[in-house]
Amino acid sequence: MKKSITLLFTSILCIQCNTKSKTTISDKTLGVIAEKAMVVSAREEASKIGIDIMKQGGNAFDAMIATDLALLVSYPSAGNIGGGGFMVFRMNDGAIGALDYREKAPLAATKNMYLDKNGNVDSDKSQIGALAVGVPGTIAGIFEVHRKFGTLPFEKLIDPAIQLALNGVVVTEKQAQNLNDHTPDFRSANKKTILLDKLWKKGDTIKYLKLAETLNRIKIYGRDEFYKGKTANLIVDYVQNLGGIISKEDLAAYEVKWRDPITFKYKNHRIISMPPPSSGGICLAQILKSIEPFDIEQYPHNSTEYIQVITEAERRAYADRSYFLGDPDFVNIPTDSLTSETYLSKRMTDFDWKQATKSSALSRGFIPGYESNETTHYSIVDPFGNSVAVTTTLNSSYGSKVYVEEGGFFLNNEMDDFSAKPGTPNVYGLIGAEANAIAPQKRMLSSMSPTIVEKNGQLKIVLGSPGGSTIITSVMQNILNVLEYDMSMQEAVSKPRFHHQWLPDSIKFESSFDTLNFPYLKKLGYNIDQSNAPIIGKVDAILVLPNGQLEGGADPRGDDSAHGF
Ligand code: DON
Repeated sequence: MKKSITLLFTSILCIQCNTKSKTTISDKTLGVIAEKAMVVSAREEASKIGIDIMKQGGNAFDAMIATDLALLVSYPSAGNIGGGGFMVFRMNDGAIGALDYREKAPLAATKNMYLDKNGNVDSDKSQIGALAVGVPGTIAGIFEVHRKFGTLPFEKLIDPAIQLALNGVVVTEKQAQNLNDHTPDFRSANKKTILLDKLWKKGDTIKYLKLAETLNRIKIYGRDEFYKGKTANLIVDYVQNLGGIISKEDLAAYEVKWRDPITFKYKNHRIISMPPPSSGGICLAQILKSIEPFDIEQYPHNSTEYIQVITEAERRAYADRSYFLGDPDFVNIPTDSLTSETYLSKRMTDFDWKQATKSSALSRGFIPGYESNETTHYSIVDPFGNSVAVTTTLNSSYGSKVYVEEGGFFLNNEMDDFSAKPGTPNVYGLIGAEANAIAPQKRMLSSMSPTIVEKNGQLKIVLGSPGGSTIITSVMQNILNVLEYDMSMQEAVSKPRFHHQWLPDSIKFESSFDTLNFPYLKKLGYNIDQSNAPIIGKVDAILVLPNGQLEGGADPRGDDSAHGF
């Protein structure tokens, strides 16, 4: 059923680089097209800064650092130095790798730290305020990227963010709304008003002078400024005054980890994604390998059958996630078994076209011999053919809402990604078990899934998404949109999405999703939830077209923007 790819030979109606306008080739609506390099991120300023670095001769890793720091300034709800993230990369010679700069639990963290005297989870404590903060990893991450792969001087990469902070960032309509919605949380977390605590409107400019000072110190003194210098002192003093437990020892002890990506085959493609402590790569492998035998392309896109097969695969993968997955430095994860074709086909044997499986009747699978909204993603391809997929976060919008005023930045609330108590859902409704219990210096389980797809040993897609537990399923649907339905990258990211995560036992649909199939799905026993998720994920991706050009797909759900040259 695949349409033949005729991009090369059909008439190109309009091609524009460095603009948001769409290009139409034949019957496809394409995103921004570029010949050599592309950055797709949540903010125009950040994408432009990344591109500029590559125009100056920098590679994808240089651009990663500059883009990341520009998002810190222009997209403070998720761009950060007070959070953490993951990077998956693929070099032009095919070498791959993954960097884990995820936050860690402080040394003084304890398993039951979010339980009240009755043993119930006090989610206010794990979600808002100083006790929710994990030890940040972002600055360690970007310095490690620079040490290993950077080609331009670090000063050149941080300068654009400093200038942006000094000159100010113009607030978009969506951003104004988002900031205004969070005013009460800013006040309760900081016990006072902060810089961002105003009634914002589209077109206002925010200058981040304290943040510019912090970035300047980092430019001069390097990584240690954040983990051992003045910035470290500002963080510890501020957090401890508000009742938090992060100490100087915690910051001084923070280390990133290079990890081997999860790689697997889906039909004739190779998928490369984030390993634990993200659940992304393993769940993505489980879902895609479970649906592979069904020959997905025979079902119309977003049809009942399509939704059924995917939902049942998702249900089973998320049940396994909740039991088996956690920080690999603390728990033993049976990755090979969980992603094996034998195990996954057994897992799908009770899938019934005539009736939904009940999540209550399903738990994790059995492994023989086993002894456990607001993030941001950007994708980069450089003129040398290297590619980088980065997802970075403070967890919730503006993280814990704790704003280190003298430093000018927010701190994460990543501690909520741990399982505070087995069986009790976190902010994303995710249930966890012992594998993801809190322990000092442990990394909390994540769903962030920066991912790269290859075909015949060549780069094909770079993608990822925010969206908590829905990240994995958003990434997965975009892979299918391109591989099975032959969509352009822009079409793929724009399509309505759905999501199932075992518990709660309902399929979440975006509000734009066509309701035509709902009555039949309900009859089959599926619970439909269209009330909770106006949008699911925000996918920023790059597709290598058959003629070698790059197509940026910037998700229309946000202010996302693709730039290239
Ligand atoms: O690591 C995770 O899975 C979450 N902390 C990600 C949070 C997120 O995507 C929020 N965005 N909407």
